[in-house]
Amino acid sequence: MKVVGFCGSPRVKGNTEFLVGTALEQLQKQGIETELIRLADKKIDQCSGCYACVNTKECSIEDDFQELFQKMMEADGLILGSPVYHSSITPKLKALLDRAGFLCRWVANDMKSGNSSYQWKGTAFSGKVMAPITVARRAGQNFAFAQLLLWATVNDMIVVGSNYWNVGVAGTGGKVDADQDAEGIGIIRHMSDNMGFVLKQLKK
Ligand SMILES: Cc1cc2nc3c(=O)[nH]c(=O)nc-3n(C[C@H](O)[C@H](O)[C@H](O)COP(=O)(O)O)c2cc1C
Repeated sequence: MKVVGFCGSPRVKGNTEFLVGTALEQLQKQGIETELIRLADKKIDQCSGCYACVNTKECSIEDDFQELFQKMMEADGLILGSPVYHSSITPKLKALLDRAGFLCRWVANDMKSGNSSYQWKGTAFSGKVMAPITVARRAGQNFAFAQLLLWATVNDMIVVGSNYWNVGVAGTGGKVDADQDAEGIGIIRHMSDNMGFVLKQLKK
C-alpha cells in the first residue's frame, strides 16, 4: 500500500510541507509506504483545454505532469495539501488537478456525441482514498478545502475525514510555524489513522 502526498506550496519546507509530512509519518507508523512530492520542484502548466486526452488518453502538454499522473495512478491513497492563497488552493496544484481530473475521466470513458447521456464507468482514480489538507494564516480555509473535496468526489474517490477539518493555522508574516499548531497536528494525525484504517479495510 502506498500513499503519495502532494505539497502544493511554492515554499519548500513551509507549513504545508510540514503538515503533509506529518500525515505521511503517521501513515508510515502503520506500515504504509509513503512519498512526498513538492510541486515547487515541478513544472506543471495549466490545462490548455485542447481536449486531446479525450481521444489519446494522454495529456498533450509535455512537462512534469506525466510523471506526477503516473505517481497518482500507482498510489492507493493521495494526500493533497495546499496553503490558502486568497481563499483558494495554489495555481500549480489547481493546474495538476485540472489536468489529472480530466485525464483520469477520459482514460476510463469515451466522449458521447449529441444528446446521448453518460453512463460513467468510473475514472482511472476510482476507489483511491484521498485526504485534503489546507493551511492558512487566518481565513479562507473552507473554500480551498472544498476545492479539494470537490475534485476528489467528482473523480470517484473515497474521502477521509478527521475529528475536525484537516486544516492548519500558521504563517503569520510568512513564518514557518505549523509545528506550533498542536491542534492542527492532532487533527492531521487522526486523519492519517483514518486513512490507514480505510486503506487496510479496502485491501482485505
Ligand atoms: C499570495 C498569498 C495569499 C495568501 N492568502 C491567504 C488567505 O487568503 N488567507 C489566509 O489566512 N492566509 C493567506 N496567506 C497566508 C498563507 O496561507 C500561510 O502563510 C500559509 O501558512 C503558507 O503556507 P506555506 O508555508 O506552505 O507556503 C497567503 C499567503 C500568500 C503568499
